[in-house]
Amino acid sequence: MTARVTTLSVWRGGAEDGRFERYEVPFEEGMSVLDALRWIRAHADSSLAIRYSCINANACHTCMALVDGRVEYTCTARLTPAGVTVAPLPKRPVIRDLVTDTMPVEEKLDCGA
Ligand code: FES
Repeated sequence: MTARVTTLSVWRGGAEDGRFERYEVPFEEGMSVLDALRWIRAHADSSLAIRYSCINANACHTCMALVDGRVEYTCTARLTPAGVTVAPLPKRPVIRDLVTDTMPVEEKLDCGA
């Protein structure tokens, strides 16, 4: 029996100098996009920057990204056998890869620098 795989195209880098990179990941029915992103970090590229906390409860709201062009929680968005494209949230400054600056401006510390 051969293992099923699918492809994730993931934004890497900053907003101006980034590009999509493709990763082949194992596919099982019911896997979330976050499962695949965590697999990439553990098995293919530990430098991938992602943000998450509760993993699958849709409770922490930190894992949001653009999944196939729609804003989704990556922990509840389902991986598909046809592949998925994941990009950082729009209208937010990209820190790196899928991590964006989500802190409201009024909550940022002014260090006077
Ligand atoms: S990881 Fe907490 S809502 Fe997705």
